[in-house]
Amino acid sequence: MTLIYKARVPTNIAFLKYWGKSDATQQWPANDSLSMTLDLYSETLASREPLPAQAGAYAFSSDQALTASEAFLHKGLRHLQWLAAQLDFSERIYLHTRNEFPASCGIASSARGLGSLTLAALACWTQSSSLSQLASCGFTRERIAQLARAGSGSACRSFWGGFVHWQRGETAQTQSVLPLASQDHWDLRDTIVIVSTQEKLISSSQGHRLAPTSVQFVPRLARLPARLAEFQTAILQKNIRQLGQLLEEEALEMHAVMASSQPPCVYMSEATQTFLQFLQEIRVQKALPIYFTLDAGPNVHLIYEARHQEAVASLLKTYQTIDVGISSGPSLGTETAQDGHH
Ligand code: PMV
Repeated sequence: MTLIYKARVPTNIAFLKYWGKSDATQQWPANDSLSMTLDLYSETLASREPLPAQAGAYAFSSDQALTASEAFLHKGLRHLQWLAAQLDFSERIYLHTRNEFPASCGIASSARGLGSLTLAALACWTQSSSLSQLASCGFTRERIAQLARAGSGSACRSFWGGFVHWQRGETAQTQSVLPLASQDHWDLRDTIVIVSTQEKLISSSQGHRLAPTSVQFVPRLARLPARLAEFQTAILQKNIRQLGQLLEEEALEMHAVMASSQPPCVYMSEATQTFLQFLQEIRVQKALPIYFTLDAGPNVHLIYEARHQEAVASLLKTYQTIDVGISSGPSLGTETAQDGHH
C-alpha cells in the first residue's frame, strides 16, 4: 500500500497588484498587495513511491523532472530543490501536479501550481495528512505560505480563502500575509474572459525585474498606500462601485508601468482592447455594475456581485469564459494506492 498526500491550492486574482520586487532572491515585494482567492485549483499528489503515469500531470521527483521539460517543471523542480535544501529533507519523493483548466488556456497557474507543490511536498516529507498535523510539525499556514512565496510571490496569498492582504513589511523578513475577510463575507464572482490562449512572451519574473525602469514606477509606489486603504474600505463595506473603480484604475496603472518599462512589456493584445471597448458599450446600455481587472496577460477578469451572474453570462455568449467564485482556501488529505496504483 502506498500512501499518497493530496494537496489542493487555489489561485487568486490580485485587486491591488504586486508588480516589482525590492529583493528578487527573497521575493520581497516593492508594495503591499490584496487579492481574492478563487475557486480554481491545482492539485499535487506526493508519495515516497513512484506514482503511476497520469495524463496531463507534470511529474517530478524531488531531484529530477520526470516529464518533458517545460517552464513550470523547471520552476517547480528548482523550488523543490530549494525547499529540500532549506529544510534539510533529503528523502526522495515523487510528485504529480495537475491544473484545473491547464496553463495552456492562458490563465496564470504559478500561484496555485507552486502553492500545491509546496504543500504536498511538506506533507509527504513530514508525513502529515492534514493542515493541523503539519502545523504541529512546525509548518503553520503562515510558514507554508512564506515557503511557497519563494517559488512564486503571489502563491503566498493562496493559503487563505476570501480576501487576503500581503504586507511588504519594513524588511524582507517581516513581510506577512493576513486574511482581510472570509469567503462568505461578500459573494463576488470572477468571470475570466479568454481572449487568447497564447503563452505569454515575457515571464512575470522578467516583468517584475523591468518594472523599476518605468518612469511611472516610483509615483505609483507613492500612491499605493492610499489606494490600499480605499480597497480595504470598499471590501469591508461591500461597495461594488467603489471597488470597481479602484480595480480598473489599478489594472490600467499596472499595465501602464509594464508598457513604459524599458524594454516595454506589452501584455494586452488587440483582443483585450476590443473586449474592453465592448464592456464600455455594455455599461452605457445596461448600467450593470461589472468591472474588469487584468493580470500579466491578455485575458480579462470581470468582477461583479453573484446576483448579476445570469446577466453577465447572457452578455458573454460569444466568448470563451471560465466562471469562478471565491474559495475558502487550500486543503490537504491522503489516499492509498495498491502496489503504487491509485
Ligand atoms: O507571483 P508572480 O511572480 O507570478 O507575479 C504575479 C504578478 C501579477 O499576477 C501580475 C500580480 C499579482 O499580484 O498577482
